[in-house]
Amino acid sequence: MSSSTAITNIATLVTNDPSLGDNSPLGLLQDAAVVIDGDRVVWTGESSKAPATDNRVDAGGRAVLPGFVDSHSHLVFAGDRTQEFNARMSGRAYSAGGIRTTVAATRAATDAELEANLTRYLAEALRQGTTTFETKSGYGLTTEDESRALRIAAGHTDEVTYLGAHIVSPDFADDPAGYVALVTGEMLDACAPYARWIDVFCEQGAFDGDQARAILTAGKARGLHPRIHANQLSYGPGVQLAVELDAASADHCTHLTDADVEALASGGTVATLLPGAEFSTRAEWPSARRLLDAGATVALSTDCNPGSSFTSSVPFCIALAVREMGMTPDEAVWSATAGGARALRRDDVGRLAPGARADLVLLDAPSHVHLAYRPGVPLVAGVWRRGVREV
Ligand code: NIG
Ligand code: FE
Repeated sequence: MSSSTAITNIATLVTNDPSLGDNSPLGLLQDAAVVIDGDRVVWTGESSKAPATDNRVDAGGRAVLPGFVDSHSHLVFAGDRTQEFNARMSGRAYSAGGIRTTVAATRAATDAELEANLTRYLAEALRQGTTTFETKSGYGLTTEDESRALRIAAGHTDEVTYLGAHIVSPDFADDPAGYVALVTGEMLDACAPYARWIDVFCEQGAFDGDQARAILTAGKARGLHPRIHANQLSYGPGVQLAVELDAASADHCTHLTDADVEALASGGTVATLLPGAEFSTRAEWPSARRLLDAGATVALSTDCNPGSSFTSSVPFCIALAVREMGMTPDEAVWSATAGGARALRRDDVGRLAPGARADLVLLDAPSHVHLAYRPGVPLVAGVWRRGVREV
């Protein structure tokens, strides 16, 4: 039998269900309570009207929001790239080539080492409020190394993405077509059983539009759904291809033409912005404002990886998005919760309404706005995942 818990005396409750709250996208409730039964939310409303439950937690006038949905990370890897970061901060530019350093370290690592790294970064993310995460392969680039990365990832999340097409494997430096054939053939066969999604880094120095189309189409034929690293370092075909193939998400979106923005606003593809990458590569910021004003759905995510964005902190990304990308605090919090859920085509997470998964964050602050207002401060005071208090 499951047990029920009421979290009462919540100063601000973010439900992300406009009909439950103040009709804003965040569906805000003041002086609220939320009731959990088993792994689900069963009730939200005024604190004084909370039904009787087995357990009670007094939030003490603090804020509660849905757990963060981090829809883009690369957590199966070994080693780090401190030197490359140092070089960048002394003026060197970021390029896709740095991925090779992590590929070498990842291939040399044992399964146990990769598992231990992944577990460590996930624990780090959980302490900062992430309750759902997607993660990718992409640092193996052989059939064996890609499939083992996905097997390890699948032990921790359902949102697993096959990214054999991260860069052309160094083993195929003179034969990119041969690598695309591997990624769409034997490697896909070995990887598909562990993955839900297929991704490609569509960029100069990685894969062009035609290669990306061939890779994503092959993945689709195997039942994997596309998402794309698009328009990160330069303008290019990635965003348009994402919309054309009904990708769940086009990620990065740093260099967008008006036609790209229009395509995202009118299609079913979410624009996922990854401000940790612009921070860590000292690059130009994408404009969330431009996308939101055009009517696109925006998600915010960490892109946690050892090269371009070595942060597991969604609160940090929220603060950056507000300060540097033109988002309001409300928009950034929505994008890091409901937006991430949209980017993963999920409706059981990213909101706190009856029937949703009981994934909640309690902040040591009276409102969600403090996530941007108090940057760098560890505000996460409690985390429930599937109804179980983990932090
Ligand atoms: O999302 N853009 C491609 N992939 C990663 C970077 C990977 C790396 O530099 O190791 C990203 O930024
Ligand atoms: Fe990425």
